[in-house]
Amino acid sequence: MSEGNLGVEFDAAVGAKLGQARRILNRCNRVAAFSGAGLSAESGLPTFRDSEPDALWSRYDPMELASVSGFEANPVRVIDWYNWRRANYAGVQPNAAHRALAAQSRMIQITQNVDDLLERAGVPRQQVYHLHGSILRDRCQNSACEYNERIDPASPQPLRSCPHCGAHMRPAVVWFGENLPQAIWDRAQGLCLALDCLLVIGTSATVYPAAGLIELARQCGSRVIVVNPDPRAAADGGDVYLAGSAAAVLPALLEGFDLASHS
Ligand code: APR
Repeated sequence: MSEGNLGVEFDAAVGAKLGQARRILNRCNRVAAFSGAGLSAESGLPTFRDSEPDALWSRYDPMELASVSGFEANPVRVIDWYNWRRANYAGVQPNAAHRALAAQSRMIQITQNVDDLLERAGVPRQQVYHLHGSILRDRCQNSACEYNERIDPASPQPLRSCPHCGAHMRPAVVWFGENLPQAIWDRAQGLCLALDCLLVIGTSATVYPAAGLIELARQCGSRVIVVNPDPRAAADGGDVYLAGSAAAVLPALLEGFDLASHS
């Protein structure tokens, strides 16, 4: 890859860091991405803890709306809130960051996001590890029942019972206090044990165990490149911190890089 004209105006500091990050990538064969809500922010989906006024947890109580106890206390309120979020998904499209990642045909995407924008940008489903589930599916609240189904965000349904066991149906997302899907979590950890570089994109890296993947990758020798407009996201670990939005930085960072040819 050459430094070349990356097609996006960056200030000199970011431009220098971008060159450093591109040189790191160019020496890597095993690269994965770990993303959070910031990756989908420029598609119009709100983040959770951002400084933006529409950040979800600055407006709503996560314990009321994203926990089993909150659901058991008031299931209608929780279902209605998720259906409100789902209504936001109807017209949402992948942004340039999703597309830049999708162009890396061999890159595994470990994401905390519950949207399907990476898949809609072209990432094969089996290459997207959704650590926190999917807002586009419902599942039975009865852990012994495995019934789940895709829902249409444009026509969400009110609180309803599982057709298999009669328990409540709920969004197929991981709520606070719940375990991550074990097989996906195991695969994500296994991947981070053997990376040359982890791209950390649009996450505050404050929610565990997911955020622990960054330190795990680092402890196993991986470089870390952080893409985030907020420097606090790189406070304790990014080898290279790229101060900017995902939709601006990722196309510039990945331009000319082809992970598939690095195998
Ligand atoms: N490009 C890149 N990063 C961005 C952008 C953008 N355009 N806009 C905002 N960000 C950054 C913010 O600076 C912040 O660091 O994205 C991050 C979003 O952080 P959070 O809102 O905490 O979202 P996330 O890290 O995904 O949260 C993790 O917490 O509530 C749970 O389950 C929820 O999966 C979520 C988890």
